[in-house]
Amino acid sequence: MLALTATFLYALLTDRVMLMHQPEDMVDLLCEPFPGASWYLPSDFPIQGLEWQNTNSQNSYGYLVEKNLINTDPKAPPSSLPSSLYVHLMNDMRDNHLHVRFFCDDDQLVISKINWVLLRTNQYIIPGLFIIPKYAEELEQMFPSKETVFHHLGRYLLHPSNTVWGMIMRYQNSYLTKSKEIIGIQVRNYSYWAPISAENAYEQVVRCTQQESLILPSVNLDQYQTSPLKSTKSTSKTVLLVSLSREVYERLYDLYYEHPTTTGEMISVYQPSHEEKQKFYNKFHNYKAMAEIWLLSFSDVLVTTAVSTFGYVSYSLAGIKPWYLHIAILDRNITNHPCRRALSLDPCYHTPPHFNCKTGGKADPRNIVPHVRQCDDYTHDPAIKLYD
Ligand SMILES: *[C@@H]1O[C@H](CO)[C@@H](O)[C@H](O)[C@H]1NC(C)=O
Ligand SMILES: *[C@@H]1O[C@H](CO)[C@@H](O)[C@H](O)[C@H]1NC(C)=O
Repeated sequence: MLALTATFLYALLTDRVMLMHQPEDMVDLLCEPFPGASWYLPSDFPIQGLEWQNTNSQNSYGYLVEKNLINTDPKAPPSSLPSSLYVHLMNDMRDNHLHVRFFCDDDQLVISKINWVLLRTNQYIIPGLFIIPKYAEELEQMFPSKETVFHHLGRYLLHPSNTVWGMIMRYQNSYLTKSKEIIGIQVRNYSYWAPISAENAYEQVVRCTQQESLILPSVNLDQYQTSPLKSTKSTSKTVLLVSLSREVYERLYDLYYEHPTTTGEMISVYQPSHEEKQKFYNKFHNYKAMAEIWLLSFSDVLVTTAVSTFGYVSYSLAGIKPWYLHIAILDRNITNHPCRRALSLDPCYHTPPHFNCKTGGKADPRNIVPHVRQCDDYTHDPAIKLYD
């Protein structure tokens, strides 16, 4: 969704029509946003095998530039240019791949003369578009507030299909309508690069919500019996916990089931699904993910795991700056610092170019324009996001 929205903005900036390659696992996930038209590539689209393109493909931009097979002089006549181009902006893009030249003014001028741009990305490249001088003025006019770029574009473009919307509404109406305040908590376990045990994740959630942000009341651990409830006036809060595993939910549920809160508030805890692991290429798994992103976006307060694109979409759609659950491996002691409040509502571009278009050397993407700076949830490597 981040990549799609970013591509849509690129299409707007460059006066292009946007069409989307639809893999099997995306079928019936999103509504078609444009009445009377389809944004999916027709099956007889003349360029086939799109999913197999890579940095070494014959029509790949970096490859063509590297081998001098394309005239990158902005004054070159269009006749000397290919009719289509593949641009690889995946997370594995390195600065020595000449694809980074996509973010340069002169190259944008050349690319603008090519009919078909086949853009592949799994990244939120919008902060990268903001560092291209050619688009600065138009972006400035489109987005007086920089932190709400995804909030506005995402809410305009992305709508759950009827299938997904049915799931959202059934859950919402069954579990989330009674309480005054919904607290959305998303726990992401990066099992490959930053695994966290269920116990530590639970401890972190409790420390964040009860001590750091004061979102949830603490409990009286000694008191298994009923507390003096301010019964008639007692307020209730609902926690919507979204996670692949069940364990954090069970512990939090037990905590508020077994013990009274110190404030007399009633806390209910719900978790829509627990799929155990991320299942790629699975349509039904994606329906649930999409539904839960939307359910989270209806929250009044959000706690999301740092660096998670799932979290980005839910809080940006909501328009709520979340509390980020820190990741221990990224130089943080999660005992002392379980979470912090986000500084900007816009998502983070994790793998931006570090490229100086004038010299061909390195440049720090965080020092080019004032409102593009280091991400507030990911400080380990240069990564950029938009700030007001
Ligand atoms: C995270 O993943 C690791 C490795 O698969 C697993 O041992 C751990 O229990 C998981 N933690 C949570 C909170 O699910
Ligand atoms: C984090 O801080 C706590 C409290 O100061 C300390 O007990 C713990 O050893 C620290 N953990 C790490 C990994 O440094």
